[in-house]
Amino acid sequence: MSAFEVRIEEPVTFVISGATGDLTRRKLIPALYTLFKEGAITEDFAVVGFARREYDNSGFCKLMAEALREHSRTPVDETSLKAFCSHLSYHRGDLSDAAAYAGLKAKFDDDTLPANRLFYLSITPDLIESAVNNLRNAGLITLPHSKPWTRVVVEKPFGRDLQSAQALNRVLLSHLDETQIYRIDHYLGKETVQNILSFRFANTIFEPVFNRTYVDNIQITAAETVGMESGRGAFYDQTGALRDMVVNHLFQLLCLVTMEPPDGLEARSIRNEKMKVLRALRLADATKHHPAVCFGQYGGDGKTKAFRGEDRVRPQSKTETFAALRMEISNWRWAGVPVYLRTGKRLAKKTTEIAVQFKVPPLSLFQHVACKGDVCDLAGVKPNTLIFRIQPDEGIFLQVSAKRPSMQLVVESVNMDFSYSGKWAKELPDAYERLLLDALRGDSTLFTRSDEVEAEWEVVAAVLAGAAEREPLIYAPGSWGPAEADRLLFTDGWRNE
Ligand code: BG6
Repeated sequence: MSAFEVRIEEPVTFVISGATGDLTRRKLIPALYTLFKEGAITEDFAVVGFARREYDNSGFCKLMAEALREHSRTPVDETSLKAFCSHLSYHRGDLSDAAAYAGLKAKFDDDTLPANRLFYLSITPDLIESAVNNLRNAGLITLPHSKPWTRVVVEKPFGRDLQSAQALNRVLLSHLDETQIYRIDHYLGKETVQNILSFRFANTIFEPVFNRTYVDNIQITAAETVGMESGRGAFYDQTGALRDMVVNHLFQLLCLVTMEPPDGLEARSIRNEKMKVLRALRLADATKHHPAVCFGQYGGDGKTKAFRGEDRVRPQSKTETFAALRMEISNWRWAGVPVYLRTGKRLAKKTTEIAVQFKVPPLSLFQHVACKGDVCDLAGVKPNTLIFRIQPDEGIFLQVSAKRPSMQLVVESVNMDFSYSGKWAKELPDAYERLLLDALRGDSTLFTRSDEVEAEWEVVAAVLAGAAEREPLIYAPGSWGPAEADRLLFTDGWRNE
């Protein structure tokens, strides 16, 4: 049995449209290599790189071997590399040209390729419509629920707003059944993200306190130190933090941490519960002292460029590289509990976490010692906080107050923690490994359904409507974003740890 504890026995062809792009090199090929090396996929598989650039099979293989040496988390050895390369081939063609798809179809027809097919559309949204039309017209899409099967994996962004997301869904659904579409949000493939549901619903002690009676607020942070490395300037300038991270990754985290218990673990049950959260989710009302949105953009310093100075970014760009929002969930469980979301580039550190902050005890019997390094001071009692640390140092931590050893009755905040590395020595799988395996075995639980995507865009419609007039505040690289973001909170401040 492989390290993944599953093995796909069905022969399959994996067609990557946009195969010479960054995602293929950094994520897809390394994930497939690991699955292959671990024996999680059958020997009878083929990977077809489909793109416009001039390569032949051996040139493509060389390009992918370089990518593996640079990005594979699994050690690359020459024997496995050679064996892996024997499964790769290259199909040169323009992704919007019907003839290129006819050539691909011929390869399936003459049995050169295994008949089950997974098309991974690693392409820009404007190419998706013609790609799907071409797949259909070339006869490459088999009927739903039939053998051989066809599945199509679509990368985000799923549109730019509600209208474009609806249009994209219409195109996809005019040629494919929902069960054949896998909209990938790689955050759902992270081991720690999947653990949110297990942690909440496999333990009786947390669920009863996950509601407005006990929870004061929830903070979800996805902070990154990177800027526009790997030539992403042009894409990001058109996209911004809200579209790139909030509408998808952060909303999905929010759903998992606040949804009701599902009636089962199959895709439909979990997606239905997430949908209920999205329908109840809205931007909180802003007041003079408590805005609900803060957009920022990183400036430069002696070492790093300002966003506006990055390659292929407009010099006057008003695109936000930082976004913080105060949200509300208008349902019985969460009414009145603010949910703060925050993400940004070039921030102080790379960290993604969800902090559920509980209310302070109704009566403060103890004095609390708060220490910063060696300097300690007496302060009000600290609330309990439950932290889902998504990455790095993956784990779950509960901050509680405990009596400090001394003659005085004073308490101090201590951590009860579970860390993945302490419990399981092995490295966690990459999200793409998990999600590719799921797509290959036809499990769509960790992918986003069409109605979820549309609901996500609906939630931010109000933010998008005001975005044009909102000038992002410039923040220093290596900081936690604009100081103004603190004004969103009703609590002491963001958890900057
Ligand atoms: C991607 C965004 O979806 O997620 C990137 O497009 C971002 O801008 C990345 O850097 C972050 O992913 P991770 O797994 O490193 O947190």
